[in-house]
Amino acid sequence: MSLAVATTVPPATAPHVLGMADLDGHVHAILEKAHELKAQAAAGALPPLLAGKTVLVVFERNSTRTRISFEVGIQKLGGVCSILDAATSQLGRGESIEDTAAVLSRYADAIVYRSSSHANLQEMAEHATVPVVNALTDLEHPCQVLADWMTLEEHLGPLAGKTFTYVGDGNNMAHSYLLGAPLVGMDVRVAAPPGYGPDWGVVEQAEALAVRAGTDLLLTERPGEAVAGAHAVATDTWISMGDEAEEAQRLADFAGYRVDDALMDQAAPGARFLHCLPGHWGHEATHAVAHGPRSVIHDQAENRMWVQMALLVHLLT
Ligand code: CP
Ligand code: NVA
Repeated sequence: MSLAVATTVPPATAPHVLGMADLDGHVHAILEKAHELKAQAAAGALPPLLAGKTVLVVFERNSTRTRISFEVGIQKLGGVCSILDAATSQLGRGESIEDTAAVLSRYADAIVYRSSSHANLQEMAEHATVPVVNALTDLEHPCQVLADWMTLEEHLGPLAGKTFTYVGDGNNMAHSYLLGAPLVGMDVRVAAPPGYGPDWGVVEQAEALAVRAGTDLLLTERPGEAVAGAHAVATDTWISMGDEAEEAQRLADFAGYRVDDALMDQAAPGARFLHCLPGHWGHEATHAVAHGPRSVIHDQAENRMWVQMALLVHLLT
């Protein structure tokens, strides 16, 4: 009798979602699944698609929506979600990301990670043997943009051929919008003050995606030019996590970039206002716009949950 020799098959590279570009070719399927899950839940017939799956969500930065939407969404699908706050874990005492990634991969089917630095996220993905999902870095926030596309589909119907405008800081949200719009066939415009435009490497990547998709990309310093005729207008905080020391300078530099009703009136009839939240009303947008008839901000927050459920189903089943 011969003993079978165990062979070690190296794990296939896990399908990480570090930015919008990783969702290229998958966005429509994820959005379709998200709409389906939302409808199934409304009918009281949500299938336990994540039964037997465990997801770890790691936070190096504060969160309300991301934390709760992952936790509740995973529970709704019969999975287990465990939250790790970097500050109260060994990560906060200097344990390497390399070891953390390897260890967490032994416990979980996926790691969702909000990091202060995109390089940390890349390092986590490099050493994890399970999928790693970006829950916000300084460079990108892809889960939010998936939620925003789902929300716009609910309000405006098919997105192809529509125009999406972002007014404000050329930050993580601006980057994911620039990269994410061509993936759903939307034209994208970004209006940012001098010195606060999006990262040039991201713009080049977005331009390549737009050329391939046959969509337009416009960068300008003039909010009115960006908003004219747009079907959706988004903004975000002028002071992202990590930018707090620049608050006074930023408040001065962003004057003139507030989204108010007069600016929204230049958009297309029926245009929607978006904000990923948390919002600072009176700064990047007025309270009247944020809580007026054109605003979909709370739908966006809800849809974080449905798109993330769909994303995890897509990655894990
Ligand atoms: N929009 C968003 O990511 O919110 P949180 O920071 O509360 O997670
Ligand atoms: N640009 C913001 C988004 C918060 C969800 C930040 O990074 O703080």
